[in-house]
Amino acid sequence: MRYLVTGGAGFIGSNTVDELVRRGHSVVVLDDLSGGKEENLAEIRSKITLIKGSITDIEVVRKAMHEADYVIHLAARTSVPRSVKDPIETNRVNIDGTLNVLIAAKDVKVKRVVFAASSSAYGETPTLPKVESMQPQPISPYGVTKYVGELYGQAFGRCYGLENVSLRYFNIFGPRQDPSSPYSGVLAKFCTAFLEDTQPVVFGDGEQTRDFTFVENAVQANLLACEAPNVSGKVFNVGTSGRISLNDVLLTLGKITGKTLEAKYEPPRDGDIRDSQADISQAKEFLGYDPRITFEDGLSRTFEWYQSTQAKVQAQAKSEK
Ligand code: NAD
Ligand code: UD1
Repeated sequence: MRYLVTGGAGFIGSNTVDELVRRGHSVVVLDDLSGGKEENLAEIRSKITLIKGSITDIEVVRKAMHEADYVIHLAARTSVPRSVKDPIETNRVNIDGTLNVLIAAKDVKVKRVVFAASSSAYGETPTLPKVESMQPQPISPYGVTKYVGELYGQAFGRCYGLENVSLRYFNIFGPRQDPSSPYSGVLAKFCTAFLEDTQPVVFGDGEQTRDFTFVENAVQANLLACEAPNVSGKVFNVGTSGRISLNDVLLTLGKITGKTLEAKYEPPRDGDIRDSQADISQAKEFLGYDPRITFEDGLSRTFEWYQSTQAKVQAQAKSEK
């Protein structure tokens, strides 16, 4: 089968592409490398086609869509605070770009589009865990764009018969999550702080909770969502069904690394939600989703990955001297 993975040079994208290649599929990646990196695809680079371009350019999207069977649409501006600062740019990529992907997908009659939606659609709805039947109430521009992406997918299903599934990921973490931007995911930031013995920054009191989900679980959901029968138009939570506070994450990292780091507490971020936890019974029932990697295992594996990556970079720098 031929898969188009938009955002395939990014964190979740490159992990998904690895698995698709491992299973023998043909893969086209469309990525403008604004957040992702070509080196994320290094191991399988000769086996895939990488098109460097933006989903905001419909002609580029049409080219990438050529003969695609399935589309896994991950390309996006992914940061909540960045969307608060620049809602127009987030809207342009996440909504206009998604519309281009859907138009090109229906024109070549792909079998299905799987869309990277987000738990941020739930916003501040107080009930935990979050169930797909709850009315979304996004509180950030980013959350709005992700919810609109779901609605557009469903509308394309009704108007043009385009099969679509939206996966509301809950805080995915793991190898290749970029720690270098001020907008990077918190676990990438915390792992790097423990590696470099710098102070982890906590926005707020650190008692906010997230259903941190190891990336292999999300990859499993992406692939299941492409092929599961009778799920078009549906939305599924992709998490673990647990939740942990940032303060407890820091304690867990302390245990993994044998270090104790004093966190620096700063004011909470605009657009931040307080608590997040997935009810995953729908994904289990309809997709056969089974998140096998626990938070603790995933965190150990992630920390080891940052450690080995840092060691490689240091060895490389030494050999170039
Ligand atoms: P990421 O930044 O690593 O991946 C996004 C990729 O999209 C990057 O490679 C980037 O270069 C690419 N991209 C951005 N704008 C583009 C454009 N205009 N055209 C083409 N490519 C473009 O982030 P990620 O964490 O891997 O997120 C992947 C998807 O999952 C996103 O849609 C994000 O909103 C969604 N998501 C992520 C999480 C999470 O916790 N990481 C949770 C919920 C939803
Ligand atoms: C994350 C994803 C978003 C996704 C959402 C869904 C990223 C960058 N964001 O948003 O794409 O849709 O999950 O679940 O991947 N924090 C700190 N210190 C830091 C960084 C963050 O305390 O250095 C705090 C934040 O204020 C927030 C929590 O950690 O309370 C999580 O932040 P972050 O990793 O940016 O994720 P979300 O905003 O939940």
